[in-house]
Amino acid sequence: MYRTHLCGELRASHAGQTVTLAGWVNRRRDHGGVAFFDLRDRAGIVQVTINPDLPKEMLDLVADVRMEWVLQIEGVVQKRPDGMANPKMATGEIEVIAKSVTILNASKTPPFMVNTDNDLPDENMRLKYRYIDLRRERLTRNMVLRHKVIKFMRDYLDAQGFIEIETPIMFKATPEGARDYLVPSRIYPGQFYALPQSPQQLKQLLMVAGMDKYFQIARCFRDEDLRGDRQPEFTQLDLEMSYVHRDDVLNLVEGLFTEMIPAVAPHKKLFSSPWPKFSYKEVLERFGSDKPDLRFGMELIDVTDVLAKSEFKVFQSALEAGGVIKCIVAPKSAEMSRKELDALTEVAKSFGAKGMPTLGFTAEGVKGSAAKFFKEEELTALKEKTGAGVGDLIVFASDARAIVNKTLGGLRLWFRDKLDLADKSMMAFAWVVDFPFFAFNEETQTWESEHHPFTMPKMEDLPKFDTNPGDVYSEAYDMVCNGYETASGSIRIHRRDIQMKMFQMLGLSDEDIQTKFGHMLEAFEYGAPPHGGMAPGIDRLVMLLADEPNIREVIAFPKNQNGRDVMADAPSEVEPKQLKELHIKFS
Ligand code: AMO
Repeated sequence: MYRTHLCGELRASHAGQTVTLAGWVNRRRDHGGVAFFDLRDRAGIVQVTINPDLPKEMLDLVADVRMEWVLQIEGVVQKRPDGMANPKMATGEIEVIAKSVTILNASKTPPFMVNTDNDLPDENMRLKYRYIDLRRERLTRNMVLRHKVIKFMRDYLDAQGFIEIETPIMFKATPEGARDYLVPSRIYPGQFYALPQSPQQLKQLLMVAGMDKYFQIARCFRDEDLRGDRQPEFTQLDLEMSYVHRDDVLNLVEGLFTEMIPAVAPHKKLFSSPWPKFSYKEVLERFGSDKPDLRFGMELIDVTDVLAKSEFKVFQSALEAGGVIKCIVAPKSAEMSRKELDALTEVAKSFGAKGMPTLGFTAEGVKGSAAKFFKEEELTALKEKTGAGVGDLIVFASDARAIVNKTLGGLRLWFRDKLDLADKSMMAFAWVVDFPFFAFNEETQTWESEHHPFTMPKMEDLPKFDTNPGDVYSEAYDMVCNGYETASGSIRIHRRDIQMKMFQMLGLSDEDIQTKFGHMLEAFEYGAPPHGGMAPGIDRLVMLLADEPNIREVIAFPKNQNGRDVMADAPSEVEPKQLKELHIKFS
C-alpha cells in the first residue's frame, strides 16, 4: 500500500496515528538540523518534519531531496506545539513526524514554481508544462470545481428523468456560425466527416427517436477566432426535451443552476432569484449589450428629448440623420485626466462612435469637452433625468441607435473595471428572450439566422418571412451571467415546410438543402414531436465560478491563444504515407 491517508486530509483528530503518505515536495526548509518538507497531493499540503535522530542512511538520502521530488513518508501525526499552528493551512494544526522516507522519484528543477501563483512565466510556458502547472493549488482547485459542476448536472438531470446519450464526433457539418473541422476519409477518397460544432442536429433527431429528456456533457468543435472565452474545442451541457414550451426549458435550467451554485461554490451569491427576463431589445436599450452585466447600475439613459434643441453640432447632426442621444453617468469620474479621457475616446471609437462628448459636474461648475454647449435649462433637465451630481461624469453618444448602444455598452464595462463596480461574489444570471430571427449581413447582402437555422420563428411572425424578415422574432433564448453569454437555446422547428422555408431564406439551393440537411427534413416527415432545448457552456460557467479571467484556466489541456497545443505541439505535420492514404496532396 502506497499510502494510508491523503496529505491534505489530515487534521488534529488524526493526532497520534501512524500514517503513510505519498506526494510531491512542495517546499523544503532546513532549520538547525531539522528538515521540514511540505508534502503535497491533490487533496492538499501537510508539513512533514525530519528530525536528526533518523538513521544516517536515511538522512543522507533526504539531504538530496529537492522540490517536486516524489516521496513516500511513514510517520506519526502530531499536534504542533502551542503557537506554531498555521491557520492559513487546512492541515496547519498538525505535522507528521517522519519515521521513514522513501524516494519514489526524483525531479528536474521545474521550469516554474508550483507552490505559488506569483512570478508565473508566460502562458505558453505554463501550457508546455501543463502537467506541472496543473499541480498548482489554484488549477487543482479549478479541476475539482469543474468535476463538481459536471457531477451536479448529471445528478440533477438524472433526478429530473433525463438520460445521457453520447452522439458521434465524426459526423456531418452542423452549422453554429463557425468553420468546421474536417476529418478526411481514407476509405472514401475526397470525402470528409465534419466534427460537430454542437450536437444540435443529433439531439433533435433523438427527439424524433423518442429519447425525450436527453442530455450530454458534449464536446463541440469550432474553427473560429479565439478569445478569452472561446476555445476551438469546448464543452457544453447539451440538453433537449420534447413537448415543451420556452418557459419549461428555462425553468428547468434556472432550477438546475439555482440549486447548483450554493452546492458547488458556496462563496458565490445569486444576484436575484427568480432570474430576471429581458427582451433582446430591452437589454440593448438599457445595457448596450445582449449579454449584460447586471451586477452594477450605470444603465444607458436616453436624453434625446432633453437635448433635442442643443446647439452642439455633434448632437444636431446625429439627430438630423435620424439618430439618438444617450448617455451613462460614471460616478466619481468628473475629474478624470485628459490622458484617461483620450484613452477612453479611443475605446468609444473602437465601437464605431465618432467621438465621446463628456460633461463633468464638479464643485466649481461643469467641465468636459461638451460643457460649453449646454444651456442652463438643459443642464437642469439633464441632472434631473440622469440623477447626476457633483463628482459624476456624463458620457454621451449620439449616432444611429445601434452604434450608440454598442458604444455606451462598451464604455459601461470599461468603467466597471476601472471603478471596480461589480461585486465579484455575485452570479447575476438573467434570461434574454425574443431575439430577431434573421440578421442582415451587410457584407454579403443576405439574411442569416441570428441563432441557428433550426430555431422556430414566432408563429405569428410567419407571414412576415417574405415581406419583412427583419421583423420576424424567434423562439430563441440566451442565459447570460456577469457580462457573458453562458447558454443559448430555442424551441425548434419540427415541421418540414417551415424548416425548408428557413433554408431557402438563407439562400441555400434545393440541391444544397438536400445534400446538407436532407436527413433532417426526411426525419421531420416521420412524426417529429415539438421540441426544444438549450446548451450552457460549461467552460464559461466554471470560469465565472472560479473567478478566472479566461476559460483556459478551467480546461485541463487547452489550446493556447493561437489555437496550438504547445505541450504536444499540435497541429503538426504527419507522415507522407498518411497523407497518401488519405488522398491528400498539397499543391
Ligand atoms: P451556441 O452556439 O450559442 O448554441 O453555444 C452554446 C454555449 O456554448 C458556449 N460556447 C463556447 N464556449 C467556449 N468556446 C467556444 N468557442 C464557444 N462557443 C459557444 C457558450 C454558448 O452560450 N446548439 C446550440 C444550443 C441550442 O440551441 O440548444 C449552440 O451550440 O456558453
